[in-house]
Amino acid sequence: MWILGIETSCDETAAALFNAPAPSFTEKVARQFATHAPYRGVVPELASRCHLETISRLVHAACADAGIGPADIGLVAATSGPGLAGALIVGLSYAKALALALNRPFVAVNHIEAHMYAAAAETDIPFPFLALVVSGGHTLLADIHDVSSFDILGRTRDDAAGEAFDKGAAVLGLGFPGGQALEEAAKGGNPKAVPFPRGMAGDAPDFSFSGLKTALLYFMQRTPNAPLADVAASYQEAIVDVLVRKTIAAATRRGRSSIVVGGGVAANGRLRALLQAHGKHGFRIVFPSVALCTDNARMIAHRGLALFDARGASPLDADIFPALNFRYKDGIS
Ligand code: KG4
Ligand code: ZN
Repeated sequence: MWILGIETSCDETAAALFNAPAPSFTEKVARQFATHAPYRGVVPELASRCHLETISRLVHAACADAGIGPADIGLVAATSGPGLAGALIVGLSYAKALALALNRPFVAVNHIEAHMYAAAAETDIPFPFLALVVSGGHTLLADIHDVSSFDILGRTRDDAAGEAFDKGAAVLGLGFPGGQALEEAAKGGNPKAVPFPRGMAGDAPDFSFSGLKTALLYFMQRTPNAPLADVAASYQEAIVDVLVRKTIAAATRRGRSSIVVGGGVAANGRLRALLQAHGKHGFRIVFPSVALCTDNARMIAHRGLALFDARGASPLDADIFPALNFRYKDGIS
């Protein structure tokens, strides 16, 4: 059966098709970096308009790549939240209209859950496992019991890890989005050069990153000529160090030996290296490929099928939910 996944929660328009149970897939992604870069952040209305212009073309391009027509699609899945309201409405409405026109089931997918389970789209990961989600808008640790049941162990109290990268990059004049640029700038730098604070230090599973960006701002005001690579490496280390320590502590407390990471910050090489080092201590650490870390529709299609198998279709009046909420109407809890 061909499953179509649609993702429009923020500034990526994406359509993915895969033919279950075969692992092969095709995906088309349109990014909006150039549209939002002059504003140094995502402008919600512009994001919605870009999705509107692009979504139909992407779905047809994905079908052409897969060598199928829309009538061959057996299930339509789309992100219903969290994200920008106007952006979510475009993808969700398109998906519902397509499902209705094709007389196929439709499944609403929680974007953060899709990040939690994304690695399973390409790697066999037996349940249970511990998931760390580190994206631009959210940072959380979850204990995953099975396909439809998990506990949220902790989350950020203020900024998300990706937001900390983006805001740090802005302070350092590295552009937007800043995660990848900051990682590049940190190459060759000394991660111990500047002792940036660790937010909510300790093993508790909650995070705080907003003090870090303020510390960077004050440091740059005091020391404007500090070597960029050292500052960027130290700042990156302050984020990654906390993520790794709290993740390992949570896995240990829960007795989980598999740790799965998802979200855009999971593309970060330093996070990968430091967490992978714990593989030596008996943990199985799974990072998805970079295309499955940042926002994508393959993870939506994959999660859509899992939910459909577990619970059936969502109703066609399923609403969007812009704020993170694991107990949303007609979705999973
Ligand atoms: O999951 P994602 O693509 O979108 C959201 O759901 O938010 O995550 C985007 C975030 C941005 O904050 C971006 O700066 C960050 O992921 N990011 C990175 C890297 N690549 C993307 N952060 C650190 N290092 C990277 N290589
Ligand atoms: Zn995301």
